[in-house]
Amino acid sequence: MSLRTWIVAVPVLLLSSTIAAGSAVDAIGAHRHLGVASCSNSVCHGASQVFRDSRVAQNEFAIWQETDPHAKAYAILEQPASREIARKLGIGAATEAKICLDCHADNVAAEKRGERFQIADGVGCEACHGGAELWLNAHADKKVKRADNVAKGLYATEDPVRRAELCLSCHMGTRDRMITHRIMGAGHPRLSFELDTFTWLGRPHYTIDEDWIARKGAWNGVRDWAVGQGVAARNLLDQLVDARSGWNGIFPELVLFDCHACHKRMSDRSWGPRQGTGLGPGVVRLNDANLVMFRHVLAAVDKGAEKTLLEHTRALHRATTESREATLAAARRLQASLAELLPKVAAHPFDAASLKAILADIEADAGNGEYRDYEAAEQAAMAAQSVVVAFESSGAIDKAQAETLRARLDAVYATVKDENTYAMSKLQSALRALRAAAP
Ligand code: HEC
Ligand code: HEC
Ligand code: HEC
Ligand code: HEC
Repeated sequence: MSLRTWIVAVPVLLLSSTIAAGSAVDAIGAHRHLGVASCSNSVCHGASQVFRDSRVAQNEFAIWQETDPHAKAYAILEQPASREIARKLGIGAATEAKICLDCHADNVAAEKRGERFQIADGVGCEACHGGAELWLNAHADKKVKRADNVAKGLYATEDPVRRAELCLSCHMGTRDRMITHRIMGAGHPRLSFELDTFTWLGRPHYTIDEDWIARKGAWNGVRDWAVGQGVAARNLLDQLVDARSGWNGIFPELVLFDCHACHKRMSDRSWGPRQGTGLGPGVVRLNDANLVMFRHVLAAVDKGAEKTLLEHTRALHRATTESREATLAAARRLQASLAELLPKVAAHPFDAASLKAILADIEADAGNGEYRDYEAAEQAAMAAQSVVVAFESSGAIDKAQAETLRARLDAVYATVKDENTYAMSKLQSALRALRAAAP
């Protein structure tokens, strides 16, 4: 709770690197990776206790190694589940397959690996912080500015847009790190991600306090949620228009579509209209969950743009039933709107009025039947959580109100717990109850 109390208070300061060129994958792989062993010395980040007179805790390695799932990401590839996936795909050992290593390890090119680099370290420090070749010595010197380290290849993890691009490169897949329906078909778990929720799922190796904010700028969970949705929506379109990642034979790449549009029981009879697609029954739908969420973001940032985004999204859905050319044209139009809107969203203050607008928009969309598809429903639950936590930390509600909101949020989550038994009507009433208890 303590770290969330700093949210909202400080304006957005450091968004300069938002427009940095190149994909996250390119930036991370630009310089030599020296290996986790180069970070884990006890006077560096391998301390067992928090260092008092240092800007950072210096026990990051211990936290990562003991509690962070990323430290086990490579080990996952040695397990029976991975062997089974690899066998079905006919790709040899998962621990050797580029397609798996790209997301389950720090799989930079052989010539970008230093002497102490070990692929078995999994998603190590440099998989997120960038190759340390040029900044390893400089970054511990208090006289050196962060911007100088960033210029030498330290990844700007403090910037929400860059952070979203980084996480999504593995948690959604991108043009350069692909997850495909064939991998899903072989048994890989469906990927789902929300930046704010996933940041706090485990035990982070960093603390967002006054000192962090002074050094690195504002932290705002709902802004991170908002930015994460915009970046994910853009990523979907980037993959869709890319000839290599968007298409597979005569079919578009199915991983970009809503899994539950196809994977349903024949007896369900659950079809109904969705304003966000405008499609009739029996049509395979793109997974537009992040576009649906980004409209809720715009409810707080730019109402006019929300309407336009809805029109453009409907046009994209319609285009997928017409032709590949029409789909590409509609996707490009949406890409252009997102490019324009993302910086606005990243700079938006997301105050209490914004939170109310977002929650009201979510509830209204629920009422309209927009969460018929499970993946949008799951995102709506995570969005609701982000908003509830922000209400708590903004001080807009007292303890009793917070407890009621938490209980109702749990009820929202319960309705999306199992994708196979999800029923929209339950989510609708749970969201209505949540909204009724909010300021
Ligand atoms: C685009 C990135 C990406 C690719 C490519 C990828 N994975 Fe994963 N994988 C993930 C992520 C992210 C998770 C964690 C999902 C979660 O829990 O939200 C995961 C989870 C898993 C799990 C389940 C782990 C658990 O704790 O239950 C297995 C098994 C797995 N991956 C194996 C593989 C294998 C084998 C390959 C290669 C064929 C592969 N993955 C390719 C990103 C990827
Ligand atoms: C999955 C991605 C990821 C991995 C892996 C990772 N980090 Fe981080 N790290 C982050 C993010 C996100 C932040 C928070 C944003 C920031 O402070 O820039 C952060 C922050 C930090 C900070 C700064 C804290 C502060 O107060 O300024 C240090 C130091 C750090 N990480 C060290 C490490 C070390 C050492 C490792 C490896 C043992 C590691 N990180 C692995 C993502 C990662
Ligand atoms: C290089 C690829 C990669 C990057 C970058 C990455 N992750 Fe992961 N992440 C994974 C894999 C693979 C797993 C699954 C590991 C496992 O199951 O042990 C995972 C697991 C997780 C989990 C646990 C999920 C669960 O279901 O419990 C969280 C939370 C998470 N990542 C958050 C993040 C965040 C936040 C970022 C960005 C700051 C990020 N990750 C960046 C690959 C990555
Ligand atoms: C256009 C329809 C369609 C979409 C969308 C789709 N799938 Fe599939 N899926 C199929 C078909 C067809 C098969 C192959 C069934 C077979 O081989 O008998 C399949 C197979 C699978 C299997 C293997 C099932 C088995 O019995 O072994 C899994 C798991 C799976 N898909 C997961 C997913 C996930 C996760 C998504 C969303 C990211 C998704 N699918 C999206 C049509 C689809």
